[in-house]
Amino acid sequence: TLISSFPQKLIAWHQVDGREGLPWQGVKDPYAVWVSEIMLQQTQVATVLERYPRFMKRFPTVKKLAAAPVDDVLAEWAGLGYYSRARNLHACSIEVMERFLGKFPGDPLLLEQLKGIGRSTAGAIAAFAFQERAPILDANVKRILARLFGVEGALQEKAVNDLLWSLAEQLLPKHRDDMPVYTQALMDFGATWCTSRKPVCISGTRKCPFEKQCQANLSDQVLQLPRKTPK
Ligand code: ADE
Repeated sequence: TLISSFPQKLIAWHQVDGREGLPWQGVKDPYAVWVSEIMLQQTQVATVLERYPRFMKRFPTVKKLAAAPVDDVLAEWAGLGYYSRARNLHACSIEVMERFLGKFPGDPLLLEQLKGIGRSTAGAIAAFAFQERAPILDANVKRILARLFGVEGALQEKAVNDLLWSLAEQLLPKHRDDMPVYTQALMDFGATWCTSRKPVCISGTRKCPFEKQCQANLSDQVLQLPRKTPK
């Protein structure tokens, strides 16, 4: 079935066509994973490539970040935009020091309680740094799943959001060892192949491994899904 074959097919895709050589890939330190995920949320990969190493050099540990004045963190964030992320980063570092003695928890439910960490970011940190079987569901993953399963409702509807989280959970690899590569593969597949306006199944340049299973592709609805406004 699609659900049982999905993780290994996606990982196989990633080994051939995934992105490589990005400095946050293969990182296991939860602090380093957390910083990269927050930075990548609303900033282009090319910009993060320039700024992430610098940030990590300036604030190499959660302890150093928590001990710094918030204005120093904001200054280092200059040019990255959405400055609430820098304020949350600083506040979160203090929470991790006080509540978890400087060690990030691996449980996504605990991660989600920290300032600036939503359910999907919690899943990404848990998967990348702790190999937890925790799903992610960012905009790219919502698009992949809505197409694959032909989800017709608008993303704003709670029932649709709940359904997509449920699918994201059901699709997880069986073995936790596969979680980091699987999670990275999902992100890369959404960012580079199953894109919003030029998905490879439409442009016809490359061959999507899911074309025979993708409900949106089979019914010629790829560019119509996911829907963003209530019908
Ligand atoms: N966007 C958010 N997290 C990412 C990651 N780990 N790799 C690429 N793009 C991302």
